[in-house]
Formats: sequence, structure tokens, C-alpha cells
Amino acid sequence: MSAQSDVSEGGGPGGPATGPPAGGRLTRTVALVGLMGVGKSTVGRKLAESVSAQFIDSDEEIEKAAGLSVQEIFDRLGEPEFRRGERRVIERLLNGPPIVLATGGGAYMDAETRALMKEKATTVWLRADIETIWKRVSRRDTRPLLKRDNPKQVLADLNAARAPVYAEADIVVDSGDGPATEAVKAIREALGLK
Ligand code: S3P
Repeated sequence: MSAQSDVSEGGGPGGPATGPPAGGRLTRTVALVGLMGVGKSTVGRKLAESVSAQFIDSDEEIEKAAGLSVQEIFDRLGEPEFRRGERRVIERLLNGPPIVLATGGGAYMDAETRALMKEKATTVWLRADIETIWKRVSRRDTRPLLKRDNPKQVLADLNAARAPVYAEADIVVDSGDGPATEAVKAIREALGLK
């Protein structure tokens, strides 16, 4: 992919051909939102398994569509192009069968993406405190937004700006230091799944 090209979408509905059948016990997609490092992918994967649904991570889908890592998309094409790709990928996934969808931390901040998610999915804000998040994100350096001076402060600022918007989600679940299975249990209960 050249630096001129955008983050285009080649895939049809339904997502990758691997993994359990989409849907499972879900009648509606469950979309996890929240700050980077709250555990959306880990919790999402376990939740999907527990309801026999397919799990999809929107960042991974964007990377597949672009043939570039998230970091490379930010570096070569810029954040606005990443957000456009993110919107297209999430729209495609929301128009497919019910899945468990982990979204990138900024996805729900985009008004159009947020409106789509509200319309087509049950949204879950996975919430954690900054110390917990920092412990997790500081282990890896894959997040372009944190490659700045004082990344912990950047994280705290993002959290302050985004929390009121994440709070619009249908369900709020705390994702603390405990095992992911605790958050999965809380989400299942909130969804009325026994
Ligand atoms: C972002 C979060 C990342 C990724 C990108 C931007 C954000 O996803 O989409 O680096 O704006 O918070 P995770 O939340 O999965 O780390």
C-alpha cells in the first residue's frame, strides 16, 4: 500500500472465515468501548467464547484492510485517515451478524461511529483507573498516541476528556486488576445471559 492510498475496505460482510460461527447466543452485537489498556480484547475474546460468538478487534481489521500496523497508518497516513478507516471497518462489522467487537479507544469518540454503534450494537464501557491502565499500557509501545512526553499524563488527559462520552454506553463495567473472567461475568449478567 502506498502512502497515497487510503485505508480501504476490501472485505465483504461476515468477517474472517476462521473462528466459531458468528452470532452464537447473541441477538445483537456487543461492542466494547473504553480507553486503551482496559482489557477490551482480552475480555472480548473470553466473552465471545462464552457465548459461542465470533470475536473481532477493530484495530486488527483496520490493519488487515490497510496492510499496515496502526502505528504505520498513523505515521504514513495520519490520524484522520486512521479514523476514516476505523469508521468504515466498524460500519461493515455492525452491518454483519452479531459478534463481540472490541473497538479502539478513540472509535466511540467519533460522532458518526458512536451513532452507528448506538443504533446497531449493545455498547459496553470497560472502565479502569489510570494506575491499572498505565501498568498495562507501559509494557508495550504499540500505541501512537502515547509516544509523547509524559505519556501517563497524556493517558490521564485522554481519560478525562473521553470518560463522559464513554459513559453514554448502554452498560458500564469495571475492569480492575482482577481476572478478565470477572468483567466477563459482569457483562453477561448485564446482558441477561445466565
Ligand atoms: C487509540 C487506541 C488504540 C488504537 C489507536 C488509537 C485511541 O486502540 O485504535 O492507537 O485513540 O485511544 P486500543 O484501545 O485497542 O489500544
